[in-house]
Amino acid sequence: MARIQIAGGRPLQGTVEISGAKNAVLPILMASLLTDQPCGLSGVPHLKDVTTTMELLGQMGVEISLGDRFRVEMQARELASDTAPYELVKTMRASILVLGPLLARQGVAKVSLPGGCAIGARPVDLHLKGLKAMGADIQVDAGYIVARAERLKGARVVLDTATVTGTENIMMAATLADGTTVIENAAQEPEVVDLAECLITMGAEISGHGTNTITITGRERLAGYDYRVLPDRIEAGTFLVAAAMTGGCVRVTRARPDTLDAVLGKLEEAGAEITVGEDWIELDMGGRRPKAVNVTTAPYPGFPTDMQAQFTALNAIAEGTGVVRETVFENRFMHVQELQRLGADMRLEGNAVIIRGMEKLTGAPLMATDLRASACLVLAGLVAEGETVVDRVYHIDRGYENIEEKLRQLGADIRRMTG
Ligand code: UD1
Repeated sequence: MARIQIAGGRPLQGTVEISGAKNAVLPILMASLLTDQPCGLSGVPHLKDVTTTMELLGQMGVEISLGDRFRVEMQARELASDTAPYELVKTMRASILVLGPLLARQGVAKVSLPGGCAIGARPVDLHLKGLKAMGADIQVDAGYIVARAERLKGARVVLDTATVTGTENIMMAATLADGTTVIENAAQEPEVVDLAECLITMGAEISGHGTNTITITGRERLAGYDYRVLPDRIEAGTFLVAAAMTGGCVRVTRARPDTLDAVLGKLEEAGAEITVGEDWIELDMGGRRPKAVNVTTAPYPGFPTDMQAQFTALNAIAEGTGVVRETVFENRFMHVQELQRLGADMRLEGNAVIIRGMEKLTGAPLMATDLRASACLVLAGLVAEGETVVDRVYHIDRGYENIEEKLRQLGADIRRMTG
């Protein structure tokens, strides 16, 4: 099993290019199920979750080929299967995103219930409630969600919680429904907006994306797409935090600064000097130690839960005491125990972790538990004295493209060990 070995203590310097956003790529790939026409997506990062999605689509009869670097071509001429099997869903919860498109296109979809997840309960009840409101008959049979509908009908869907993939599922289903669907308390994440923009290029009628009310008027059929995905704000944020923690100076390119307001604000509060251009962000820490910051996660445009672990790591070596509060997911603090193994001074209190910054951390063997938590362990390893080895890096590979190569390019002493 692959591990990442880091010798800490080098300030990061240089430029790194940001990959396409995982959380936009997955729903956009799934949107190819909505049409029998060819679809092409550029800027696709090489990630485990992307390969899992292609495997899932392939099993459903979508013809897939890899074009030029980072481009995926797809055509779902005829669908061969209506089932997303447990073996794939259990490795990637986002597989639930096939539900809306499949149901809308062929009137039936079977998706395994995702089951246990390391970061809290994460139910899919709101996805189902929305599709039911649109006239779907939904049963749970032998661990599978079985959804059926002649043709979905436009409806008013009020989400109790602004779920990201729930909004995406319902929005995709609504593009082929009969009539107009209004999603209230919709998620406003940039990835939802990117999916909406792609669907619009397919001929979908959508407005209000990026606000909390999205209106979709269904069409009889959609065309294909030729689209480039937006850059990954979480990857960009992670490299900027790495720069801040190591006292370095890093420019991330092919980034979208406007999607990172909350994160950049917190980095400035931590003492970083930030400069932005249209598609780049530079963070200069000038060799200083970061100041502790308080962070509370919230749906977009609030502070992203996917950056929570990285800021917990930053506070571990910051000057002062910081409180990191998680309000989006329960039980998303598995990294705390691991950071403590490096000597971090932090204690959990309900949904918050209180962190007293230390002058130094000391390298140790660590275990990755989930995607973002594992990235934060790598960040901590970059500043810990001596050697840190992060085990179970397959979690990182789900969402970060070549993380060790990109960090090495910035001067980190880091390498991947296999076997
Ligand atoms: C997406 C992102 C993930 C990010 C999360 C929150 C993708 C592929 N993943 O996950 O990286 O951390 O948004 O920004 O885009 N909920 C319900 N019922 C539901 C659905 C969700 O109660 O039917 C709750 C969840 O338990 C959670 C909250 O809503 O407390 C937000 O979850 P959600 O936005 O659905 O997260 P995902 O879409 O799974």
